Amino acid sequence: MKKIIIAIDGFSSTGKSTIARKVAKKLNYIYVDTGAMYRAVTYYAIKQGFIKNGELNSEGLISALDNITISFKMNEVSGIAEVYLNGKNIESNIRTMEVSNYVSPVATLSEVRKKLVEQQQQMGKDKGIVMDGRDIGTVVFPQAELKIFMTASVKTRAQRRYKELTARGHNLDFDAVLGNVTTRDHIDSTREDSPLIKAKDAIEIDNSDLTIEEQVQTIITLANKKIT
Ligand code: DC
Repeated sequence: MKKIIIAIDGFSSTGKSTIARKVAKKLNYIYVDTGAMYRAVTYYAIKQGFIKNGELNSEGLISALDNITISFKMNEVSGIAEVYLNGKNIESNIRTMEVSNYVSPVATLSEVRKKLVEQQQQMGKDKGIVMDGRDIGTVVFPQAELKIFMTASVKTRAQRRYKELTARGHNLDFDAVLGNVTTRDHIDSTREDSPLIKAKDAIEIDNSDLTIEEQVQTIITLANKKIT
């Protein structure tokens, strides 16, 4: 059967990763969460002191990029591909508010994007992949056979994120989460290099009132039309 590339882009906390992971599982495709890669670079920057007192030392981080190796390895118990930084599993370190607060500024750096985009293109070279992010259908795989653009209201997204973080044991304020989602929307869609925009040939799904299963089914139906 023909293998395709499925690009899923959209705003923060639209539930892209959950949907993309399920779609990949149904099709027996590889799933790549590119946000996790930008988060891994951000976590590295914090650990190495390139982010201090709210300031990002862009030049320092850029000069250290060759020291960063990001990989994914399947957790056989959860069935989720977890992210590794220089061989160390950092899956549980990259979803904190601290990383969330700095990841968008880090993702504006062209040198960071170039490095990660090259790796992403390499991962998808044999197709049979579902990749989610902000620039997958526009920059990483402009030739992707199926492009989805996910949206939902900012309040719905902040509520989802708040629920997810509190379920993981983080103790935080809803307004802080809402503020973070709003700020990231702004930075992600106004940055100069590869801003978050809907590709011309992307299909938009507003999932404010859709169940996960409905979204997965919609994408599978669209994918099947391309595959067969
Ligand atoms: O999907 P996420 O919320 O984990 O992504 C974290 C940040 O990474 C997001 O605010 C913008 C950036 N990002 C990006 O610029 N390009 C991508 N392909 C994926 C994420």
